[in-house]
Amino acid sequence: MQIHIIDHPLIQHKLTIMRSKETSSSEFRRLLQEITLLMGYEITRDLPLEDVEVETPLEKMRGRRVAGKKVGIVPILRAGFGMVDGLLELMPSARVGVIGLYRDPETSKPIEYYCKLPDVDNRDFIIVDPMLATGGSAVAAINMMKEKGVKNIKFMCLVSAPEGVEVVNQAHPDVPIYTAALDRQLDDHNYILPGLGDAGDRIFGTK
Ligand code: URA
Repeated sequence: MQIHIIDHPLIQHKLTIMRSKETSSSEFRRLLQEITLLMGYEITRDLPLEDVEVETPLEKMRGRRVAGKKVGIVPILRAGFGMVDGLLELMPSARVGVIGLYRDPETSKPIEYYCKLPDVDNRDFIIVDPMLATGGSAVAAINMMKEKGVKNIKFMCLVSAPEGVEVVNQAHPDVPIYTAALDRQLDDHNYILPGLGDAGDRIFGTK
């Protein structure tokens, strides 16, 4: 399995609070943003650096800075929106695309209804969606981005199910999955168990 479980204690602590059904929408949103920022450190670990001269108040030195890598953040609507701000805090110059998918009630297949990406040339992309359940939306989103010429994609979620990880790994073995938790299984309605419920509803306070 091409999966990275980011098990930093602060992330696990915050995720446990998010899982509780007693946690309010505002706290859920805040924690999701905080976890996304913390996971962002791990997901950006391979950003290339370059040497640069800097003058401290005492003397000149060679420092290092990120070598102008272009990054795109692409939330899958609607729950993915909750993971954008945490990454933008880390990478303020990243561009943001959007992918909208809905599930066809007859076939259960994801159907695209919106796709807007920044310029894809030489840009690395991070797709964000809090819940990797069946993997259908993730695979559809990755397909759409590859069709538009995107070469380098990472997929970042909060909670994943083994079924979804398997589906994404099979379809796109080149796309690493970053998650804070790998849960037990899907239920009959494709909710993750134990999970945290419907992430979109919990972020936006809908039912
Ligand atoms: N989407 C959610 O929001 N929650 C799940 O458990 C599965 C998919």
